[in-house]
Amino acid sequence: MPADSTATPPPGAGDAPRTAALARRAAAAFPDARLSAADTRPFPVVMARGLRDRIVDVDGREYLDFHLSSGALVLGHAHPDVLPALERQVAAGGNFGAMNEAAIDLAERIIAAVPSIDSVKFVVSGTEATLHAIRMARAYTGRDLIVRFEGAYHGHLDMVSLSNKLASLTAHDRDKKPSLRPIPDCPGIPRVIQELCLVASFNDADAIRRIFVDYGDRIACVIMEPFQRFIEPQPGFLDLVRRLTRAHGALLIFDEIVTGFRFGPGGAQEHYGVRPDLTTLGKIIGAGYPNGAIGGTAEIMNAVAGRNARTPVYMAGTFAGQAVAAAGGAATLDVLARPGAYDTLFALGERARGGLERAFSRRGVPGRVFGVGPLFHIFFADADVRDARDALAEDRTRRKRVWDALLRRGVHITGARGFVSLQHTVATVDDFVDRFDRALGDL
Ligand SMILES: Cc1ncc(COP(=O)(O)O)c(C=O)c1O
Repeated sequence: MPADSTATPPPGAGDAPRTAALARRAAAAFPDARLSAADTRPFPVVMARGLRDRIVDVDGREYLDFHLSSGALVLGHAHPDVLPALERQVAAGGNFGAMNEAAIDLAERIIAAVPSIDSVKFVVSGTEATLHAIRMARAYTGRDLIVRFEGAYHGHLDMVSLSNKLASLTAHDRDKKPSLRPIPDCPGIPRVIQELCLVASFNDADAIRRIFVDYGDRIACVIMEPFQRFIEPQPGFLDLVRRLTRAHGALLIFDEIVTGFRFGPGGAQEHYGVRPDLTTLGKIIGAGYPNGAIGGTAEIMNAVAGRNARTPVYMAGTFAGQAVAAAGGAATLDVLARPGAYDTLFALGERARGGLERAFSRRGVPGRVFGVGPLFHIFFADADVRDARDALAEDRTRRKRVWDALLRRGVHITGARGFVSLQHTVATVDDFVDRFDRALGDL
């Protein structure tokens, strides 16, 4: 046991028989013993149930949950106003593979909240949403090239698994400006796909201008996270991309899979005041169940749906508009629409960021805490970050050590990013900050 009383027993210790047994089965059943690349824990943890702002593993050990299913659970686990909606839909048969009221309810709520969205199409994940948004842009413009920003994440498709992971760049390459040509994130991505993608550096006005001068009439779309991972757009940058895309007949896609309904009802586009042509949504709109959506202006959505005598863009899916996820999503948006919901989320996020920053200075460890509203990102270097290459300045070894220490201290969080939910309390946030402070002390 660690010396202080706030720490839970370390999950790696030998008093976790169910975890040990399940970890052996997982190692046999999965080639890397993981469910997802995001699952990077230093020792096996197998979760059993979630309750409000906590998550409990199969051996009954409780963790403060700041991962929240990669941010999908903006209301926390099993919210009392969402659970009945999910249960009703499950009891009603769950899935119909056909038009259903829950899907219509959810679509209407999205349309009402996001001014750039006149209609939506549902898919089952964020990844599928970006796939279809890009296909729609290509169909609408009749062009093939897409532009993306280095370090942004848009899911695990071939056409966007490019220039996201930069950690493996050599020191020499890190210092260079990003090349226009993408770097594949993993083996298996065909060269022909890479050739259809151009890469710019986030917040680099000259780079994006140059791309449009050289390729403007061949670009179908720019796809971007308006708030890229944890990096704020510089004033005027989103406006510039908006102007360039419009001037050259390309579409602007905002990937709001993280920021949608998190930065406010209208997402990052409302927060920063820039309207895209197409928006991708995921995470929050499924209440923890798989869901994704593409929304856009009537003109574009009607065109890709085949109105006005155009050939429709093919969109299908066994689970599109799945009723359980849609019912949970609609109930979630109803809770978020209550007066004060975002004030609470933003205040908790602010409290987390402030406390974590104070822990850095108290312990004399160089670090920054970035974020907006209920999202915070802990960065292990005292540096400004304007683009993905600036982010390479981080001390990743130190980050990993603190992350591992946090898990041992009963905090569930991965990567460097955390989320608060509407079921988090000031006490939970302060408890987390305290555990973080002690984890820094372990260094
Ligand atoms: C900005 C962004 N786009 C797309 C995705 C992919 O969504 P999904 O994991 O649901 O496929 C993610 C996932 O974290 C994301 O953060």
